[in-house]
Amino acid sequence: MRLKDKVSVITGGSRGIGEAIAKMFGKEGAKIVIADVNEETGNAALEGLKKDGIDAIFVKTDVSSEESVIHLMNEAVNAFGSVDVLVNNAAVSIRKSAEDTSLEEWQKVLGVNLTGAFLCSKYAVPEMRKRERGAIVNVASWHADKTITRFAAYAASKGGMTALTRQMSLDCGKDNIRVNAVLPSTVDTPMLYETMQNLPDPEEAWKQTLDYQPLGRIATADDIAHACLFLASDEAAYVSGHSLRVDGGTYAKVARPLMFD
Ligand SMILES: NC(=O)c1ccc[n+]([C@@H]2O[C@H](COP(=O)([O-])OP(=O)(O)OC[C@H]3O[C@@H](n4cnc5c(N)ncnc54)[C@H](O)[C@@H]3O)[C@@H](O)[C@H]2O)c1
Repeated sequence: MRLKDKVSVITGGSRGIGEAIAKMFGKEGAKIVIADVNEETGNAALEGLKKDGIDAIFVKTDVSSEESVIHLMNEAVNAFGSVDVLVNNAAVSIRKSAEDTSLEEWQKVLGVNLTGAFLCSKYAVPEMRKRERGAIVNVASWHADKTITRFAAYAASKGGMTALTRQMSLDCGKDNIRVNAVLPSTVDTPMLYETMQNLPDPEEAWKQTLDYQPLGRIATADDIAHACLFLASDEAAYVSGHSLRVDGGTYAKVARPLMFD
């Protein structure tokens, strides 16, 4: 019960890493608010939580819309009385160089990944401040540090998230609100599956991805959720402004598989 009664808003919480975070936090006693733009997967994820006896709601949310985020935080407070934990996990990605990225594509990726994290944080912090405690966990990516060809908007959005994490930890510290990030590498989720399917030889891409892992396996969504749980819990009471790599040791390597270049 490491998050007992902590009201936890999980953006992009209806599938992949976000769904795993929602389940894990719920099993640790948190009250869960799934915020996702996809109503169908959102309702399905909510059913799954309820079957496990977890107190939860789903709020259809577009994190890139200020109006939608204000509605989300109001719904969380109406249902459970506070916002104690925010996990900014919702994201979209496209594989394009800066030159090939249209302004519309750039604004879409930055809008969901970075502006979404900004907006959700902006409207969660006043609720957290009322109780003089809170934890924000930003799910960034290893692309914040090192990246690959044709990933301009995504890498920029994730780098922005770690900068925002460090900066907000300073402004929020006096109210006992901690702000941290996790940087996953390759995680077995629908987003990864879709990325692989768009490569010329998906089978070879999976093989090379696996060969690249120092731990001999690709991360599971639970691997990332465990790191988020630590950062959201009181066990991380003195951890703020930190970006935690959950990458199986890949940061230590100097080369990437040729398939991705
Ligand atoms: N899967 C990986 O290999 C990997 C690696 C590094 C980082 N990440 C990061 O982890 C997080 C989760 O990734 P995932 O693989 O579970 O992705 P996913 O695509 O499986 O899930 C993303 C969720 O975000 C939701 N979403 C998209 N746009 C939204 C919006 N405007 N408002 C609200 N919700 C929206 C989607 O509906 C979906 O449920 C993302 O931030 C991603 O960048 C993933």
